[in-house]
This record gives sequence, structure tokens and C-alpha cells, in this order.
Amino acid sequence: MTSIPNVNAEILQQAQQRIQQDLETALTAFSIPEPLKAAVFHTVMLGGKRIRPALCYATANLSTDQSNYAAVRRAAVAIELIHCYSLAHDDLPCMDNDLLRRGQPTCHVAFGEDTALLAGDILQSMAFEVLGSRLFDQAISVAAPIVLKQMQILATASSKMVCGQVLDLQAEGQRVDQEHLEKIHRNKTGALIQAAIMMAAVTIFEGTDHAIPKLRQYGQAIGLAFQVQDDILDVISDTDVLGKTAGKDEQVDKSTYPALMGIEQAQVYAQELHDQAFQALAYFGENAADLNQISQFLLSRKS
Ligand code: IPE
Ligand code: IPE
Ligand code: MG
Ligand code: MG
Ligand code: MG
Repeated sequence: MTSIPNVNAEILQQAQQRIQQDLETALTAFSIPEPLKAAVFHTVMLGGKRIRPALCYATANLSTDQSNYAAVRRAAVAIELIHCYSLAHDDLPCMDNDLLRRGQPTCHVAFGEDTALLAGDILQSMAFEVLGSRLFDQAISVAAPIVLKQMQILATASSKMVCGQVLDLQAEGQRVDQEHLEKIHRNKTGALIQAAIMMAAVTIFEGTDHAIPKLRQYGQAIGLAFQVQDDILDVISDTDVLGKTAGKDEQVDKSTYPALMGIEQAQVYAQELHDQAFQALAYFGENAADLNQISQFLLSRKS
């Protein structure tokens, strides 16, 4: 039983359906003993907005050349597996100690801490196995240098996510300045969002193409904006809509944008970052219709 949140962006809905099928295909290809298998399916298959896979597909749609599309589909699966692993670990009692995720009991509540830890571990390796596999390949498989670039992008971003998480925990109960907070957010959340875009970008553009720095700028802006918005929603939204416990950041004195600059300034800042993102997309003109739609959704999201 899945509980994909209702969204108004058609592109995102299409992406959610596609990734749901591809995740199911990918997960079923692995042989995993119980209860780990149930924990993995619980962590991956139950809901989630699927923003990172949607960004992979939308970036690939900047081009009409679909010859490397299998690598885009694998990247979408891989980034979502890494994201789900990061959530299972983020919720552990030794981290954010959360009970609710995507409207469900968190992995450790449902399966115990040992299994939740291992579910995160296996999801991480599975992501790289999927990326290096032939899953979704058509008659001609994707050239090895593209796959290698995708692996490097994903590995670097995953390490950054972990570094961001440790900085986030250290900053609890501390007063950090905006520069430091930005460092935390760019690492813990921005890096994976940027990786979703860049793993698709390398399937359609050469490294020297001017599109690459434009997409990097776009990814940096929406990546940081995503966590600013997450911090804002923690304050202004409620648990039912979020599918996770609202007001949690203040309870544990997390360093967040609303805590640093107040809720209104944080909202202004999120808008500014989105303006930067739209400016970067302008380079692509109408070809960026899908990415524009996702950005619109991100700006107005309520969960
Ligand atoms: C939540 O990410 C954790 C952050 C990195 C802010 P999402 O808001 O993308 O969570 P799901 O995948 O939709 O549940
Ligand atoms: C999560 O940040 C970042 C990662 C999972 C890497 P948060 O701790 O703010 O995410 P939520 O609010 O629990 O989803
Ligand atoms: Mg956290
Ligand atoms: Mg958390
Ligand atoms: Mg949060």
C-alpha cells in the first residue's frame, strides 16, 4: 500500500508513477533475507514525494536524445535509494530520534534499530549496484565512462550528505552563523539534490558543454532552497500534512533558517534562491519546461 502525496504538478505525478515501478523492479532483483527485506521495502516503497527521481527525468528531458535513458532510470532509482537510506538513519534514536516518516512508523520503530541500521547500509550499496547494472538497458548499453561519472557524482554527494549530517548534529543547541548553516544545508541536503540533476546531465551533455555549469547553478540553488523550505515547514505545517512530526526542530534546538533569521526572512530567502534557480534555467528556454514545473512545485510545496 503506497501513500504518494497529492501534488498538482503533472510532471511530478508522472515521475512518481515511473519511479514506483522502477524501484519495485530494482528491489525485487535483490535477494535479501527477512526481516531486512521487509524493512527495505518499508523504507523505500511507502510514499515520499520522489523529487530527486523527478529531477533526473526532467533534466534528461532537456534533450530529445534518449539513447542513454536507461542510465537516467538507473540514476533515478539509485538517488532515491540513497535518499531513503539517509532518512532511515536520520530518524534513528542516536540521530533525530523520530517516530513518524512519510505518514508511517519510522524504520526503527517498525523493525528495531539493528534492522533499520542495516536497511540503510544495504540501500547504500544497492544504489551503486543498480547504477553499475544493465537494468533498463535497451539493445545497446550505455557507455562505461558515463556510468563511471554517475558513480563518482553519487559517491561524492553521499559523502557530503554524511558530513552535513554530522555538522547538523554538532550544531544542535549551538548558535551558528549563516555561513555555517549554509554549509550544513548544502551538504546534508543540497548535495543529493544536485547529484540527481548532474547524474542525468552527464547522459546528455559533454563535460565541456555550457549547460553543465548552468545546471550546477540550478542544482545548488534549489538544493539549498529545499532544506530552507524543510525548516520552514517544520515550523508552519502540521504533522498530518508533513507525514513527520512537526515542530521537532525547535524541540531539540536544531540550527535552522527560521531559528537564525525568523520565519518571514527565511521565506524571503527561499524565494530568492528559487529566483536564482529560474534564472539559471532561462538558459535552456522552453526545453526546461519540466524543470520549471518542478521548481514551481518546490516553491509552493506544503509537505
Ligand atoms: C526530507 O526529504 C529530508 C530532507 C532532505 C529535507 P523529502 O522532503 O524529499 O522527503 P520525502 O522523500 O518526500 O519523504
Ligand atoms: C535531513 O534533514 C537530511 C537528511 C536526511 C540527509 P532533516 O533531519 O531536517 O530531515 P527531516 O525533517 O527529518 O525529514
Ligand atoms: Mg536530521
Ligand atoms: Mg530529521
Ligand atoms: Mg527537517
